[in-house]
Amino acid sequence: MNDLPEPSAEALTLSEQLVDVIRAEIAVAGGFIPFSRYMELCLYSPGLGYYSAGAQKFGAAGDFVTAPELSSLFGRCLAQSCASVLAELGGGDILEFGAGSGRLAADILAELEAIGRLPRQYSILERSAELRARQQETLRVQVPDLCARVTWLDTLPQGDFRGVLLANEVLDAMPVERFRWNGTAVELFNVRSSDDSFDWRPEEAPAGAASKAIQQLAAEVGLAAGFISEINMTLAPWLASIAALLDQGMVLMADYGYPRREYYHPQRSTGTLMCHYRHRAHDDPFLWPGLQDITAHVDFTAVAEAGSAAGLEVTGYTTQAHFLLDCGIDRLLSTAGPTDSVDYLKQVQQVKQLMLPGEMGERFKFIGLAKGIDGPVPGFRLQDFRDRL
Ligand SMILES: C[S@@+](CC[C@H](N)C(=O)[O-])C[C@H]1O[C@@H](n2cnc3c(N)ncnc32)[C@H](O)[C@@H]1O
Repeated sequence: MNDLPEPSAEALTLSEQLVDVIRAEIAVAGGFIPFSRYMELCLYSPGLGYYSAGAQKFGAAGDFVTAPELSSLFGRCLAQSCASVLAELGGGDILEFGAGSGRLAADILAELEAIGRLPRQYSILERSAELRARQQETLRVQVPDLCARVTWLDTLPQGDFRGVLLANEVLDAMPVERFRWNGTAVELFNVRSSDDSFDWRPEEAPAGAASKAIQQLAAEVGLAAGFISEINMTLAPWLASIAALLDQGMVLMADYGYPRREYYHPQRSTGTLMCHYRHRAHDDPFLWPGLQDITAHVDFTAVAEAGSAAGLEVTGYTTQAHFLLDCGIDRLLSTAGPTDSVDYLKQVQQVKQLMLPGEMGERFKFIGLAKGIDGPVPGFRLQDFRDRL
């Protein structure tokens, strides 16, 4: 890790405080905690976790760039899908999970206003107080006239929701279990304290939901002995709670990931766990807890299965490139320029990053889970990859 830029003394102090919190929890738990709990604390521990503390995170000065940060055309494309659902329902709301800097919300609202399809309300469910403040500032600057429509939530709203639920790069930020299939049984990689930081503590999985799910997975995809990977055990209950809330509309999620057979492919035998720090990716989750992002790719088959089990219909699954193309990114780009040639060239470059297979175009996927709406919405009409799930 020698090539990573050293954090500031202030950042290292925060990280040390988080290390103390995690060590204390490990001691109380009797010597180790599940990796999912370690990841939860690293990302969301109040005031100290990566998403809860004040680090820059998104954009050029942060650790990674998400699609909404790259170009407003991304949000304008998503707005076409939202508009279609809202039109079919004769109105409705939008609820965004984990809204980052607020750019996606601002771009979607601006586009929906331009095409005359504003939602009644745009709610943001955000776990981080720091990000909530940043989102408020972004919206105040970018769409001051629409701020009155935006509300922030701490928990899922009660009652029947009609409209669109959005989650861009939220699933990859959910805590996962890390496991090894030894050929007959499941080992879970727990986390223990070590002299200078933390360490893996592999242990045969106790009988329970995770062990059962991994056993099933091993049988289904034929995992080889020694295969290491991740599984997201919070996905299904999370989707079930969303499905219970949704009266009519669509859950639209975008993230990096694969269908199950590709996710647990023999060539991916060391898993998908990845850490991001200042635009460098590496695989050590014990480095500087709280100062770096920790993620795992998304098993989109698991998303589809959890959605179906919760009563939602998988209405579309496709790559980001196909999704954006179907939403008219080329048309939106042509209307965006070329009044200013420099700006236009910059936008062309951003579109390439969003669309090219070697960039975000194929690695990122979109999935739509619907209840009570007809037919595919913009984004899913051009190329349907549901048969790969
Ligand atoms: C990688 S960031 C993506 C931010 C933003 N959506 C974007 O695309 O720029 C992940 C976000 O997901 C949020 N998140 C993770 N789990 C969540 C949950 N269960 N409910 C709401 N937000 C969640 C995190 O707090 C964080 O803001």
